[in-house]
Amino acid sequence: MSSELELVSATANAHKAKEIAAILGEDIRLVPRPPEVGDVEENGDTLLDNARLKARAIAEATGRPAIADDSGLEVEALGGAPGVWSARYAGEDATYADNVVKLLGELAALPDGGGARRAAFHTVALVVYPDGSEVRAEGTVAGHISTSARGEAGFGYDSVFVPDEGDGRTFAELEPEEKNAVSARGRAFRALAGKLAAGRTAAGG
Ligand code: IMP
Repeated sequence: MSSELELVSATANAHKAKEIAAILGEDIRLVPRPPEVGDVEENGDTLLDNARLKARAIAEATGRPAIADDSGLEVEALGGAPGVWSARYAGEDATYADNVVKLLGELAALPDGGGARRAAFHTVALVVYPDGSEVRAEGTVAGHISTSARGEAGFGYDSVFVPDEGDGRTFAELEPEEKNAVSARGRAFRALAGKLAAGRTAAGG
């Protein structure tokens, strides 16, 4: 029997799935979400609520452990927006580009352009088992919002987020492994993988 842990991935976002697989490494195998499991409405008030909604739905539908995450960008000068609304900041069907344009516009409209434009990404990652138990972890990366979009890699707000732990490049200007080393998702999933490994060792698995 393989000692590889198999988890059904809740995400239908190809960018995220690729990042998560790279971060988790070879000991955890991600199984794509079955197509018959429809989209889960992310109507929770917090990142944890939304991650849990997604993982629970998949665990219940498949009878197997499911892994999910939810992330948000909080911008200080905007009172923490877009936060839990990050995916829908410019509207229900907003594209990544629409959201970036809206974010830059909101900051530019502030008297001081948002000052230092301080911002942070937060990620909550968790595994939910069919019996309802869960293991979870969080990650954060601090930085600022650039005045214009730069770079082609990544997705979402990557082209305008400049991490403090870097050389001034936006996430979209970094190699994937450079982003994963400091990103909120990288931190959350590495912590989660550590907890899962510790749990398996304790259980003799
Ligand atoms: P989700 O909850 O992880 O699907 O993320 C919600 C939204 O946050 C996404 O639609 C993106 O706009 C943004 N986002 C999440 N993760 C990242 C990231 O790693 N880089 C840039 N934007 C992200």
